[in-house]
Amino acid sequence: MKIGIIGAGNIGGNLTRRFQELGHKVFVANSRGPGTLADLAAETGATPVTVEEAARRGDVVIVTIPQKNIPSLPRDLFAEVPDNVVVVDTGNYYPQQRDGRIAGIEDGTVESRWVSQQLGRPVVKAFNNIYAEHLLKLGKPSGTPGRIALPVAGDDERAKSVVLKLVDELGFDAVDAGKLDDSWRQQPGTPVYAADFDAEGVRRALASASKERKPEWRAKSDKAAQTN
Ligand SMILES: NC(=O)c1ccc[n+]([C@@H]2O[C@H](COP(=O)([O-])OP(=O)(O)OC[C@H]3O[C@@H](n4cnc5c(N)ncnc54)[C@H](OP(=O)(O)O)[C@@H]3O)[C@@H](O)[C@H]2O)c1
Repeated sequence: MKIGIIGAGNIGGNLTRRFQELGHKVFVANSRGPGTLADLAAETGATPVTVEEAARRGDVVIVTIPQKNIPSLPRDLFAEVPDNVVVVDTGNYYPQQRDGRIAGIEDGTVESRWVSQQLGRPVVKAFNNIYAEHLLKLGKPSGTPGRIALPVAGDDERAKSVVLKLVDELGFDAVDAGKLDDSWRQQPGTPVYAADFDAEGVRRALASASKERKPEWRAKSDKAAQTN
C-alpha cells in the first residue's frame, strides 16, 4: 500500500520504520519540510514529502501530530483527496502538558470527532493507546499467546477494516472498538490507555471505561491553545 504519514516524530517515525519494513511505500512529512527528513529517509527508504503530498499520495493517510497543531494544517488539505482514501488519527489531547485548552474537547466532543471536524473528513482512530517504543518493538506474529491488541474505532466499516488489517500486519491483534463517537473509551486516562492488554483485556477495558473526563486530563486555564 501507499501510506502517507503526516508527522515524523515518535509515532510517525516508528510507523514509517515498520510500514517500510513490511514492504509498504511510505510518504512522510513534518512541519519543517522534506529536506529535514533525510536521516529518516536514509534509514527506512521512505520518501520525504510535503504535508500536501503526504495527503495526496497515500491510499491510507495517517495524521500523527500534536493535537494543538491540527488546526494549523493547511486548509482543505483533504479537499481533493478521494473519499476512498482512509484517514487515520493517532492523536491524544494533553491539555496540561502540551496542548493547552481546546474548547471543543473540553466541552465534551470526543477527541477524534474534534480532529475529524478540523480536517473536514471522516477519520479512523488507531495507535493512540500504545507507546511509540512498544509499537516499534513489541509486535508479534498472529496467534502468539498474550499478543498485544489495539482498539480501532471509526464510522466507515470499509475504512476501519483496512486499518484493522494494518494493525495485524504490524504485529498486534486488532479489536473493533465501535464508532468514532465510542472512541472516548480509548482516550487518555481510560483503562485501555497504554496498558498493552491482549484482545480479551482490551474488550474488557473498553467495556469498563467511564466517560467522565478526569481532572488531570482537563485544561487548567481558560486560555485557548496556541496554534503554530
Ligand atoms: N509518543 C507516543 O508514545 C504516542 C503514543 C500514542 C499516541 N501519541 C499521539 O500521537 C500524536 C503524535 O505524537 P508524537 O509523540 O509522535 O509527537 P512528536 O514526537 O512530538 O512529533 C510530532 C511530529 O508532528 C510534526 N508536526 C507538528 N505540527 C505539524 C504540522 N502543522 N504539519 C506537519 N507536521 C507537523 C512534527 O514536525 P516538526 O518536528 O517538523 O515540527 C513532528 O514530526 C500526538 O497526538 C500524541 O499524543 C503519541
